Amino acid sequence: MAIILNGKKLAAKIKENIKKDVESLKSQGIFPTICVIEVGDDPASKIYLRLKRKLAKEVGINERALHFPKEITQESLLNELKKLNKDPKVNGIMVQLPVPEHIDETKIFDTIDPIKDVDGFHPFNQGKLWQGKDNIVPATVRAIMTLIDEYNINVEGKNTLIIGRSTIVGKPAAAELLNRNATVTMAHSKTTNLSELTKAADIIVSDVGRPHLVTGNMVKDGVVIIDVGMNRENGHLMGDVEYNEIVPKASAITPVPGGVGPLTVASLMKQVVILTRMQND
Ligand code: GUN
Repeated sequence: MAIILNGKKLAAKIKENIKKDVESLKSQGIFPTICVIEVGDDPASKIYLRLKRKLAKEVGINERALHFPKEITQESLLNELKKLNKDPKVNGIMVQLPVPEHIDETKIFDTIDPIKDVDGFHPFNQGKLWQGKDNIVPATVRAIMTLIDEYNINVEGKNTLIIGRSTIVGKPAAAELLNRNATVTMAHSKTTNLSELTKAADIIVSDVGRPHLVTGNMVKDGVVIIDVGMNRENGHLMGDVEYNEIVPKASAITPVPGGVGPLTVASLMKQVVILTRMQND
């Protein structure tokens, strides 16, 4: 039977460490502050933002929340970001995605000052990641690596398949896993031979958002599954992989919920601490 990669338990441990980091910064008169921006009223975003707000409070990070109507122009939004870049009281800035269609999200990534880029989406930080200088890593990727490290999963030389090529998860996860000497393959919506690739994989990271994408007969014995998918079907939350079919074959697997998700929010707060320290060095 597979080891269940328990992100919920690990997130609680990380939370305690962040609390200590924040206390230490506060004892030096530094008050880490994240500004979280919501554009429009996406219901899923509201849930994530609530989780972020709750955790920030628990670890003692100041949270400033800004909400803009969905009609806000791209120019006005970018101007707001530029103001926050200049605000010395703000250490970290993030715009919750998705944003309305008339706003080009890459313009948001390009505008947030790299030293306040809690999400790690700025091209400078993404470039650093590909260089192997990975101080700032997108939160979901940090969450994946935290699980891999905690459970001593060896990635060096392993056939590692990433399904999904987003700027938020797939691409930076590829960079980080390459930095750790994994042999990385990327699959995406135009891939024609997915089951051939999954069968050859020692480790599968899936971030597609499609339930039942990877089934039991598509994986080999001993596979490690990191399921980043978060899908709702008939009121149930589930990942991209067919969990019940794969558990008997896998050596390790993340549950959904309770795997990568809880660690993502904790990773974001960790990143606020890292950026605050960098800004005060
Ligand atoms: N929406 C879903 N995941 C993320 C994330 O990691 N960062 C931001 N900013 N928005 C998201």
